[in-house]
Amino acid sequence: MKLCVALDLPTAKKNLDLARVLRSEDVWLKVGLRSYIRDGQPLLEELKAINPNFKLFLDLKVYDIPNTMADAAESMAGLGVDMFNVHASSGKQAMTMVMDRLSNIQNPPIVLAVTALTSFDEPSFNEVYGESIEKKASQFANDAYESGLNGVVCSVYESRLIKNRTTQNFLALTPGIRPFGEDVGDQKRVANLITAKEEMSDFIVVGRPIYLSDDPLGVTKKIIENI
Ligand code: C5P
Repeated sequence: MKLCVALDLPTAKKNLDLARVLRSEDVWLKVGLRSYIRDGQPLLEELKAINPNFKLFLDLKVYDIPNTMADAAESMAGLGVDMFNVHASSGKQAMTMVMDRLSNIQNPPIVLAVTALTSFDEPSFNEVYGESIEKKASQFANDAYESGLNGVVCSVYESRLIKNRTTQNFLALTPGIRPFGEDVGDQKRVANLITAKEEMSDFIVVGRPIYLSDDPLGVTKKIIENI
């Protein structure tokens, strides 16, 4: 299991300072909407300059018509990131086009599909999708698998089911992790490290429990020791 640290801080400097603190750790760094919209490609380059071994996950959760998604996928691959994601609800045609577009690229990034955001609970999910999280997330995962993607973003509570319905190698990246029972914030389906391990998560995403802590390096080391 790998740790992916969410760089969701309010300025580029704060994100870069955190990356410098973590420079010797074996972590992935997640650049999401806030940071990428504000700081763009130069941020990605600066992160790699801090440690070329940092793996970068561009978390933009792309959702659009198939051709636009394939164009975006090509652009994201061109940024040199190691992983990016799209929404599974964009459908199989869009996801297949994304993977087709990457097929001519050497060392293409890992592509994940977002199933059900971890900020949804059952009632709020049902309001949007008209189904239970378990049923819809596993259908979305199946669509992503059949479209040739490498895995999904899901909560810890669906990761085992999704692997059982696809393959064990189909990656599960799980946000909503509160490693040692920290504050949940806006997340609903949260889990600690023990559960994430038991439920076979491949990547855990941790944001606030690290960057809001007084000792981000200490928390990171403690997480790494426990995964
Ligand atoms: O601070 P926290 O640990 O809750 O951060 C979780 C990160 O994972 C955020 O950057 C959020 O955008 C992202 N994420 C999520 N749920 C998903 C997909 C991504 O929380 N399903």
